Formats: sequence, C-alpha cells, structure tokens
Amino acid sequence: MRKPVIAGNWKMYKTLGEATETALALKPLVANANHCEVVIAPVFVHLKTLADRLEGSNIRVAAQDCAPEAKQSANTGEVSAEMLKDVGCSHVIVGHSERRQFYSESNESVRRKTRAAIDSGLTAIVCVGETLSERESGSLFSVVETQLKEGLAGLTTSDMDRIIIAYEPVWAIGTGKTATPEQAQEMHGFIRAKLKDEHGDVVADNVRVLYGGSVKPDNVSELMSKEDIDGALVGGASLAAESFAQIVNYK
Ligand code: PGA
Repeated sequence: MRKPVIAGNWKMYKTLGEATETALALKPLVANANHCEVVIAPVFVHLKTLADRLEGSNIRVAAQDCAPEAKQSANTGEVSAEMLKDVGCSHVIVGHSERRQFYSESNESVRRKTRAAIDSGLTAIVCVGETLSERESGSLFSVVETQLKEGLAGLTTSDMDRIIIAYEPVWAIGTGKTATPEQAQEMHGFIRAKLKDEHGDVVADNVRVLYGGSVKPDNVSELMSKEDIDGALVGGASLAAESFAQIVNYK
C-alpha cells in the first residue's frame, strides 16, 4: 500500500520568525498522523532552522527548488541538492508550475534537477500539470505525458523509489478552483498508466501521485478517497498550522 504524503508548499511567504512559529505550532497537531508522511517546504534561508527545530518529529523538510548542477561549481545564486541534504532536507519540489511559468523552467531542467536530487539522496516531488487553455483544447494528457517523459528521462526503476509526482493543474493553483475528484482521478490514473508503461507494475504501484491546486480542509477527504490520489501538495491552506493540520488529519 502506498503511504500518503501531505506536503505544504509555503512558497515565498513568512519571515523566519513566522515560519518557526507555524512549524512549532504544527508539530503537536500532526504528531499522531501515522497514516501519512508530513512535509513542509519553506524558503531556502529557513530550511536549516526548521530542520533543526523539527528534528525528532514526524515533519520532514523540503526545499522548493534546487540547482540542476550536482557538483559545487561557479553558479551564482544557486543552491545544490547536496547542500539541501546537508542542512537537513529530505525532499525537494522540482518543476512547480510557478517556476515553469515565471522562471522559464523547462522539462530539461526538471530532468537535471531531479537527477541531482536523487543523486544527493533527496526525494524529488516532481510537479506536472496543464494550463487552462491546454485543458480546453484537449491537449491535457499529451502535455502531462511530455512533462513526465522528458522530466523523468533516464531514471532507473530504483531511482523511481525517490520520486513523488504532484499533479497540479495550473488553473487550480491559488485560484480556489479545485479539479473535481473525478477530473483529478482521471489524470492520476493516466499518470499511473504511463509509469507502468515505462517502469512496470511495481513502480506504478509504489510511486505516490499527489494532487495539488486549492486543496482545503473541506475538499481533501473526497480527493483522498480516489484510488490513484496518494496525497496532496498544498499551497495557501498550508500557511496556517490549524488548516494544514486539518488537511493532514483528513481521515
Ligand atoms: P494552492 O497551491 O493550494 O494555493 O492552490 C498549490 C501549489 O502551488 O502547490
């Protein structure tokens, strides 16, 4: 059985004080959540502090991005996956739609970042998802298929142990418009079928596919009831400890 993952993407929000306060408030609220893995993703400069303060808890810390270059090198402004691991991260989000839209992230850089993450011992949460116009024109499945094919190119079956996929339809992110559980399940089923074509039954059965896009305490249970939805990547509703804890404790 796949263990669900509930991950909070804090994006470019919170001061260090606010981030610490939220993380410490979250700790007791999710301490009994044995049914799922709990992950929070603060900004780079808060990672070390939060990883230290959450040590020994069941909350893991993720970065929101990493450099495509694996080795220490002359790349001003970048942070490598190895450095993230070194400060206590276990996960890194790769290819979030905001990176794709606003920072020209390509499937090729997603591939390189994912490779660097795995080689550094991190689990990569690789984001895919179509825009509204791609959905309306009917190209949603081919768009997601290409993102998967190119973003995960070259990964072996054992590398796939370190992959979590997040399906985040761009039109549902931060808009309050959630995909219906049926729309989400349809794409999650498609993603799992593609994993099976590429890597076989075991990988397809084991890789967690999260849904992201306006997940809230009042819609999480219905989404989680779908067979191929294995968790959530939560933006806005992860910023307050209480609402994120309600999502974690959806059961
Ligand atoms: P949202 O963001 O929950 O605010 O829609 C999700 C995400 O960007 O990961």
